[in-house]
Amino acid sequence: MASDLAIGAAIAQSTPPGTTVPRHVAVVMDGNGRWAKRRYMPRYFGHKHGVDTLVRAIDLFADRGVEYLTVFAFSSENWKRPSDEVSGLMGLVLVAVSKYLDKLHRDGVRVRIVGDRSSVSEKLLQAWDRAEKLTEGNRRITLAVAFNYGGRWDVLQACRQALAEGLKPEDLDEGELTRRMALGFAPDPDLFIRTGGEMRISNFLLWQAAYSELFFTDCLWPDFGAAEIDAALRAYALRDRRFGGVDADSPAAQRA
Ligand code: FPP
Repeated sequence: MASDLAIGAAIAQSTPPGTTVPRHVAVVMDGNGRWAKRRYMPRYFGHKHGVDTLVRAIDLFADRGVEYLTVFAFSSENWKRPSDEVSGLMGLVLVAVSKYLDKLHRDGVRVRIVGDRSSVSEKLLQAWDRAEKLTEGNRRITLAVAFNYGGRWDVLQACRQALAEGLKPEDLDEGELTRRMALGFAPDPDLFIRTGGEMRISNFLLWQAAYSELFFTDCLWPDFGAAEIDAALRAYALRDRRFGGVDADSPAAQRA
């Protein structure tokens, strides 16, 4: 059983209630395919524009004070897509690294890749390694790219690590697990955004998003610009974050 202390420590990793700019924003970048289809173009065209949108979004979020941005680039389930789309997405990552890595580095972005690396090509692993090494000293914003990532995989791999390290069942608590999760270096996401009109979590950050504020928008990812970012941040600033407790001063508590 996790102690109150361990639960408190896990919650304390998130932004304290009352802080209006989220420290950590997580995004499901959905809608690239539909965006391309509306233009009578192949899905790859949408993903390519999605990368450009992401690069602009990193800068916009950083300018607004967000410290961590985690994006869902390829899920454990995306292997089920047609093989040309899967290989297109893999190739796009390589193109994106060679096109944008220097810019991200100049802009003070620290890049981290999170996900299951076991079924990813050597070429991709090398590109990620280069991106992570080059940018590891940057602190303006941390971009975590979730690739071949699934929330259930993440919980499982953290448990496996703990077992392999010989942790006793009575010593396993929320803090021990959190440290072994793929985003163990970051606070929990404060704001979870999904573009593209669907209202699902889709196996993204299941553990870490326990107390995230959710924001869903119909905007398709390639169209997600400054106005949409500001709308999401404004909505977040109006939320009452209570982490399962009651804040006597909160508008919600006063209405009750
Ligand atoms: C969902 O749109 C989007 C994806 C599965 C991929 C998102 C990836 C990128 C934006 C590229 C990221 C690349 C790097 C280098 C970080 P969808 O295809 O499901 O769109 P749809 O719902 O309209 O079909």
